[in-house]
Amino acid sequence: MRIAIVTGASSGLGREFIRQIWEREKPDGIWIIARRENRLQEIAEESPLPVRSLPLDLTKGSAFDRLKALLKEERPDVRLLVNAAGFAKMGNYTEVSVQDSNNMLDLNCRALMNMTLTVLPYMQKGARILEICSSSCFQPLPALNVYSATKAFVLSYSRALRWELFGRGIHVTAVCPYWIRDTELIDIAKDSRNSQAIRHFPLASHAARIARIALRDSKWNLPVSTPDIVSFLQRLLSKFIPRELIIACWEGLRRI
Ligand SMILES: NC(=O)c1ccc[n+]([C@@H]2O[C@H](COP(=O)([O-])OP(=O)(O)OC[C@H]3O[C@@H](n4cnc5c(N)ncnc54)[C@H](OP(=O)(O)O)[C@@H]3O)[C@@H](O)[C@H]2O)c1
Repeated sequence: MRIAIVTGASSGLGREFIRQIWEREKPDGIWIIARRENRLQEIAEESPLPVRSLPLDLTKGSAFDRLKALLKEERPDVRLLVNAAGFAKMGNYTEVSVQDSNNMLDLNCRALMNMTLTVLPYMQKGARILEICSSSCFQPLPALNVYSATKAFVLSYSRALRWELFGRGIHVTAVCPYWIRDTELIDIAKDSRNSQAIRHFPLASHAARIARIALRDSKWNLPVSTPDIVSFLQRLLSKFIPRELIIACWEGLRRI
C-alpha cells in the first residue's frame, strides 16, 4: 500500500498538506498524527481516501514504539513523509519557561529526527521527505531564540540527510516559510510571559499556498524550499549581509 504520513495533522500547515496530498499526490492512504484525536477524526471523516488516525504525543518515546509496531505489522510503502508538528514560544530567556524551551527541542528537533529515522526503512526510491523548518533557520532571532535554533537544526539535519540518502534515491527538502497567518502557531507562540515580544506579522502568507509550493519544490528535489517572497529574500540576504546587522534590523522591526 502506497501511503503518505503527515505529522502536525490536526491544524494549520499539516492539515493543509493532507488536503493537497489527497488531491495532488493520490496515495492509497494517509496516516495522520497529532495529539487531538477529535480533530483527526474530523479529517478522517471528510477524506476521500482511507485515513489512519494516530493520536500520538511525539515528545513521548511510547509514540515511536507504537508507530514502529504498526509499520512492522503493515509494511507500507511510504511515498511521502511530511514532518509538520512543531511549535514556538516568543519572549527572551526570562520570558519563555525552561519547560517550554525543552518541549520545543523535543518536538521540533528530536521528534522530527525520530519520525524520519522510524519511517525511512519503509521508503523506497522516489519517496520524498518534507521537513518543515522556518525562515527563522537562516539567522539567530532574539525573542525567538530557542525556536530559531531548533529550526537551524532542522535545516542542517535535512541538508546532510539529503546527501546520505542520495544512493537510495530518496528526496529530502527543508521547507522554510516566513510567518503563516491561518495556523495556530502565532497564538500559541504569544501565550508566554511576553505576548508583545513580537508585535506584528506583516506580509504573513497562507497555509494553502505554502503547502502547494512546498510539494512542488519537493517534487523538483530542491534541498531547500522558501515558499514565499520574504523567506526567499531572508535566505538570499543572510548569505551577504553580516549576521549582526540582520539581527539588529530584526530587533528594531519586532518592536514596531
Ligand atoms: N505558522 C507559522 O508562522 C510558521 C512559520 C514557519 C514555520 N512554521 C512551522 O510549520 C509547522 C506547522 O506549524 P503550524 O503553523 O501549522 O502550527 P499549528 O497550527 O499550531 O500546528 C502544529 C501542529 O503540531 C501538532 N503538535 C503540537 N505538539 C505536538 C506533540 N507534542 N505531538 C504531536 N503533535 C504535536 C499540533 O497538533 P496537536 O495540538 O493536536 O498535537 C498541530 O497539528 C511547524 O513546524 C512550525 O514551526 C510555521
